Amino acid sequence: MARTLTPRRNGPKSRPSAPARPSRTPAAPKLYPTKNDLPEATRIEVIALLNQRLAEAIDLQTQCKQAHWNVKGPAFIGLHKLFDEINEDVEEYVDLIAERVAQAGGIAEGTVGVVEERSTLPDYPLGLSNGPEHVAALSDALAAFGRTIRIGIEEMNELEDAGSADVLTEISRGVDKWLWFVEAHQQSPS
Ligand SMILES: [Fe+2]
Repeated sequence: MARTLTPRRNGPKSRPSAPARPSRTPAAPKLYPTKNDLPEATRIEVIALLNQRLAEAIDLQTQCKQAHWNVKGPAFIGLHKLFDEINEDVEEYVDLIAERVAQAGGIAEGTVGVVEERSTLPDYPLGLSNGPEHVAALSDALAAFGRTIRIGIEEMNELEDAGSADVLTEISRGVDKWLWFVEAHQQSPS
């Protein structure tokens, strides 16, 4: 039997409001002791900067899925599969960044609330449907993420953390590749 939604007895105005969530402003950074010989001051900065990149990577992952679920049109199957392949790689980037934070003695901050507060990526438009619209939106997201990762590489180089710079470089290479895959749908020789 088909299930029907129970109609709300009252209009939306009388819906009880959700309890206010406490501020997610992080407390003083907690640093775990480690035999990792990066100076403590360096690790504190690395952790904060990588947590910023982590928020953006998680944001990008949700945007890939948004595109994967909702794309329509004649190029559906190719784009549907492509967007999911990108999502799988971005999931790995998320893990690489989060675990680098843990290796530096920090706490990986990757909740939805933190992502909403910190990510600098443009929000993915909800009303898109056809392939070209999703190609345009996801290439915007990949390009914005690629830019923040390149900035991240510079920051890690300045902090003399070659390991974190290497992690971000690996991610940067991957993002550049996926941007190429997505943008190729828009490109034709002039
Ligand atoms: Fe799927």
